[in-house]
This record gives sequence, C-alpha cells and structure tokens, in this order.
Amino acid sequence: MPILNWTEEYSVGVQEFDNQHKKLMAIINKLFTLYTEKKFSNIDVNPIFAELNDYANIHFSTEEHYFNLYNYPQKAEHLAMHAAHRKKMIELKNEYDAENSEKTLFAISNFLNEWWIWHINNADKEYTNYFNANGLK
Ligand SMILES: [Fe+2]
Repeated sequence: MPILNWTEEYSVGVQEFDNQHKKLMAIINKLFTLYTEKKFSNIDVNPIFAELNDYANIHFSTEEHYFNLYNYPQKAEHLAMHAAHRKKMIELKNEYDAENSEKTLFAISNFLNEWWIWHINNADKEYTNYFNANGLK
C-alpha cells in the first residue's frame, strides 16, 4: 500500500510544483513498499535513496528559482526548511548505512511522509496566492 497519495487537497496552485510533488510521492512510495513487503534486505536501496535525493534537489531548486525570480517575501524561512530536509536525509541515510535495519527504513519512510505532507500543506501553500498573483499557476 502506498504511504502517500497525491490528491487535489495537496495542490499548491502551481502545475509544475504539483507534478513534482506527485513524482516525489511516487519515489517515497517505492521506498515504503520495500519496507512493507520486506524486500529491502535483498534489494539495493541506494539507487532509490539517490533518486529521491536527486529529485528532491531538482524540486527544491525549481521552487528556489521562482522565489528569486518573483522576490518571494518568505524565501529565507522556506530555504531553511529545504536545508533542514537535505540535512535530515543525510543523517537518516548514514543511519541506514550503519544499521541497514528495518527500523531505520521505517523511520525514513515516516519522516518523509510527515515532512512532505506538512511542508506542502503549510510552507508550500503559503506561496500559492503570491505566485498566482505573479502569473505563475
Ligand atoms: Fe518547498
């Protein structure tokens, strides 16, 4: 069962970001499925971690590009959240490498689930009106 399902309630009002959020959720689901189906022990999890990190970075960079372009007033706070995500992912990956445990994989899936839902519903939705008013939809 997927951990994250994108529905309209997660829309941030900008098509490009919604599409990226959908793709991120699909990658997180892949990771979570390894945990629920107990497949992680015989699969190399590293490519999925790499895919997730690469795509999260692409997504953060896209948002940050528009923050700069439109001089988004809450840019600093939002950048700090992206930085915290990057840092936490490194920590969790290190933990996974050290323990290679089911517990860590579950913690990672849970962190990602909670982080993205909170971030989309709070931080990202904060920019909807501002970006839409600047013509970004
Ligand atoms: Fe964001």
